[in-house]
Amino acid sequence: MHAFNINPTTAIAAVALLSALPTAQAGLYLKSSPVVQVDAKNYDRIINRSNHTSVVEFYAPWCGHCQNLKPAYEKAAKNLEGLAQVAAVNCDEDENKQLCGMMGVKGFPTLKTVRPGKKGKPIVEDYNGPRTAKGIVDAVVDKINNHVKRVTDKDLDSFLSTKNDTAKAILFTEKGTTSALLKSIAIDFLDVITVAQIRDKETKANELFAIKSYPTFVLLPGGDKESIVYEGDLKKDDMVKFLSQAGQPNPNATSAKSKGEKKAEKKDKKASPKSSESSSKTTSTESEESTDAPPAEKSVEVEVPVTVAPRIPAITEADRLTQECLNRNAHTCVLAFVPSAHGEPAEKALTSLAEVAFKHTLAQRHLFPFFEVHHDNEAAESVFKSLGLPGEVEIVAINGKRGWWRHYEGDFSFESVEGWIDAIRLGEGAKEKLPEGVIGEVAEEPTESVEVKIEEDVKVEVETESDTPTKGAEPTPEATPAAESKEVPRHEEL
Ligand SMILES: *[C@@H]1O[C@H](CO)[C@@H](O)[C@H](O)[C@H]1NC(C)=O
Ligand SMILES: *[C@@H]1O[C@H](CO)[C@@H](O)[C@H](O)[C@H]1NC(C)=O
Ligand SMILES: *[C@@H]1O[C@H](CO)[C@@H](O)[C@H](O)[C@H]1NC(C)=O
Ligand SMILES: *[C@@H]1O[C@H](CO)[C@@H](O)[C@H](O)[C@H]1NC(C)=O
Repeated sequence: MHAFNINPTTAIAAVALLSALPTAQAGLYLKSSPVVQVDAKNYDRIINRSNHTSVVEFYAPWCGHCQNLKPAYEKAAKNLEGLAQVAAVNCDEDENKQLCGMMGVKGFPTLKTVRPGKKGKPIVEDYNGPRTAKGIVDAVVDKINNHVKRVTDKDLDSFLSTKNDTAKAILFTEKGTTSALLKSIAIDFLDVITVAQIRDKETKANELFAIKSYPTFVLLPGGDKESIVYEGDLKKDDMVKFLSQAGQPNPNATSAKSKGEKKAEKKDKKASPKSSESSSKTTSTESEESTDAPPAEKSVEVEVPVTVAPRIPAITEADRLTQECLNRNAHTCVLAFVPSAHGEPAEKALTSLAEVAFKHTLAQRHLFPFFEVHHDNEAAESVFKSLGLPGEVEIVAINGKRGWWRHYEGDFSFESVEGWIDAIRLGEGAKEKLPEGVIGEVAEEPTESVEVKIEEDVKVEVETESDTPTKGAEPTPEATPAAESKEVPRHEEL
């Protein structure tokens, strides 16, 4: 699994500072997303104390791998609806950092499954499988606790007589396995209705209840009340409604939200009819809504010091440009061609590059140098023309040693620029051959070439490999759209 690794000692500091960057974003998931957004205040109630199994993604909104995971994760959430909880924690939020640290999060995204263990202590396990909807769904379904009793002819009498007054639900089935749907129903009705399954082979039991077809779902309301055969579709909501005539399901955290918290949401909407607030504000409102915290805690506003990424260095002399980037021994350099008078697009491009560089600095990761150059200045004018660059603001990556260059195309936003830089770091994407005349010669003394060579070997590795500190770890290709488009098997069937 290819995670966005961060040196653990700097992770907290990096995250803390990054959240203050001007580009710090709201959470990845919208309120309408099937992924439940959880924070430090409600994690214990929604995840830790739930009787259901959950999968929790610990992420940062700026992390490219987290953004890539989003569609698959939302698809998994849709598929697991009613069966397990699919949640996400934004570790970029100040209030969540302690939780993320406590959960041992060292890189983004980190996926963990959480399910109740003995004595209410949850069992937390890392999910390291494929980052596809199918991979996640299968792993989570596998971790749903099984409270469904398998009853045979032999133990039928004792099953029916124990807890005589407690309601029982029995699924008569031809299958030898227990479905995720029935397991989740048993969890909803823990200590309220005993859920069991009986195979078609158990003739005595099947005859006693006069079962003629499979699957058949039967409710025994308890005491000496008549059994009731379920006639509806084998869908979770309908089955839960059917069973509710014998007892109310345990209030799970997600359904609790539909009462108290929805009211809060409505109130909030009234208070601010215009949704033109900044996105980060919206997030903090959201997390406040879903909390149990006393009102006193709600009003606490945390002042976050604003840290601005240092500007990338500017090169104004032709010689220096040749020395740094445009020679036959030069490794990858990123050049931002801007007019010397800057202007808005130039500022946007330079700011995005500065933030990408700063992020790597905070995470103590090597990254090739970025330079600002002015295409209306003699230092860069000829290079700009040789590359045939069309615009006023252009970003290119040049590798003099290997003779390639790449042209950035995009809106100069942080996400877009970061994605482009990441692709270069991972050696992804097409490179173009450098035209003649771009690369100049630097006079070198013979003794220096040895040093250069040693340094080269180190740098080459840094440039082409992922940011994973583990030696030899190959970047795993992300889920291909082809693999994702395959249907995820439904787990809703019995
Ligand atoms: C939560 O409870 C409701 C019924 O109260 C149920 O329909 C829903 O599927 C439950 N959520 C999970 C994850 O099981
Ligand atoms: C989860 O619950 C256990 C006890 O059941 C507790 O020790 C632990 O701190 C809780 N974890 C979180 C993150 O709340
Ligand atoms: C359950 O208890 C009732 C009386 O409370 C009794 O009539 C009935 O036979 C009992 N059923 C079983 C299966 O033991
Ligand atoms: C979990 O199950 C127990 C019964 O074992 C029930 O009392 C409790 O309310 C359930 N908790 C939740 C959060 O549904």
